[in-house]
Amino acid sequence: MQVYILLCFLGAVTCQQGRQFPEGFLFGASSSAYQYEGAWNEDGRGPSIWDVAIHNKQSVITDRSTADIATNLYHNYKNDIKLMTEVGLDFFRFSISWSRILPTGFANKINQAGIDYYSNFIDELIKNDITPFATIYHWDLPEKMQEMGGWTNPAIVDFFLDYAKIIFDNFGERVKFWVTINEPEPVCNNGYGTGIHAPFLNLSGIGEYMCAKNVLLAHARTYELYQKKYKYQNGKIGITLMSEWLEPYNSSAAEDRQAAYDMLLFNLGIFADPIFSKTGDFPQIVKKMVAEKSLKQGFPRSRLPTLSEDEVELIRGSADFMGLNIYSSNLVYRNESVRGMYPVPSFKDDAGVGITVARSWPRSNFERIQFVPWGATKILMKVKELYDNPTVYVTENGWPNNGGFDDEDRVHFLASYLNSIMEAVNRGCDVRGYSVWTLMDCFEWINGYTLKFGLYQVDYSSPNLTRTARKSAEFYKNITTTRYLLRDYDYNERDVVVNI
Ligand code: BGC
Repeated sequence: MQVYILLCFLGAVTCQQGRQFPEGFLFGASSSAYQYEGAWNEDGRGPSIWDVAIHNKQSVITDRSTADIATNLYHNYKNDIKLMTEVGLDFFRFSISWSRILPTGFANKINQAGIDYYSNFIDELIKNDITPFATIYHWDLPEKMQEMGGWTNPAIVDFFLDYAKIIFDNFGERVKFWVTINEPEPVCNNGYGTGIHAPFLNLSGIGEYMCAKNVLLAHARTYELYQKKYKYQNGKIGITLMSEWLEPYNSSAAEDRQAAYDMLLFNLGIFADPIFSKTGDFPQIVKKMVAEKSLKQGFPRSRLPTLSEDEVELIRGSADFMGLNIYSSNLVYRNESVRGMYPVPSFKDDAGVGITVARSWPRSNFERIQFVPWGATKILMKVKELYDNPTVYVTENGWPNNGGFDDEDRVHFLASYLNSIMEAVNRGCDVRGYSVWTLMDCFEWINGYTLKFGLYQVDYSSPNLTRTARKSAEFYKNITTTRYLLRDYDYNERDVVVNI
């Protein structure tokens, strides 16, 4: 490939147009502790809300599986780091399990075996020239924390800070990229609003907003702690947000355009505005809409908590970068049919919009993910416009299917999205890196093992959980080694081969 590019430059061969990634652009793969590690009750690890929910009621998971073993990364990490070098990763994004470090979640008892595991893991990454990119929290709350109300209890902010401090003390000298919290949107909306993720609580219209405030405070206090006490460690610290692009259903209808914008603020803005905007508060539109609805519904005050001046001050600017997980897009509309569509009160009822997808968008086997590469350019451009061009890392992007080695559909998805991300970079977005979801097939939350996202297949029927490279691993390796995206794909959604 390098030879090919050289010949291109020298004019010796006819070149297809392509895109060169900027100098210093980093490529990685992402994972999370709960979805990868297994060893759920080994070496002193305490239970998380997912362990408890699944063990109590296996039917919450589509294929009734558990993550007790998952990919077995805990025992197999040395071999898996070899796979990472095989695809040429610059960094590996992993998360730390709070209950492996602090079995009950409280900082009175540190589990040394947990510290040792991550310490060895980080050392092994570094030894193999792979930069550790660590997430402090990726959805696996210690069960004890939940017994006290979890993310709806403001006390969690201090407990999170205790945990973060132990993390920085033990790993901060070696880890230079930190994500405090992965995707607060599903943490709050799915965990405490609709109740489709652990802790499976349906407190819709109230719980998700209480959670949002506490997540923001936990994030911001962690950032502040790092600046005050750990700045010498010289790391960058950000938060990862979920960022579906929201397109007006009918772009010539003012109502739909407003609906799409409102939904963007309800989804992304609730977390991004306080941290990345100049006002440093929840979006004005969201505050107004929730307050009005709350009053109409007889609540004595808005169900959306307020942020005090001090809190606004603390949260504003509390990130060195924005992590964005980019997967899909939706169409948004607002008309009479939306009335009565959602439970009252609820986050979606507050936003008052209908959400759908275009029939022409190729779908994956996961209803959440459609093939809409241009949505990646649009969301990145919007973030640039709304938040004054923050430094962005695309911390996840991937395509699920039912398996098979010849994953041309995934290759096409990754190529097309990378192309769209590069389009945003060329239009001035400060995107510094990209991380594919995911290195190997893993536990996909309520979808168990039914969704395969991996560059590597994991054979869950073999005793060693054998990993085998798919075509997409080869494709990604080409990208990481050449830093060049060849235009031998037609980046056109109609041509995608959807393998479902
Ligand atoms: C989450 C991952 C998940 C992926 C695919 C992301 O929103 O951060 O944990 O596996 O989506 O479903």
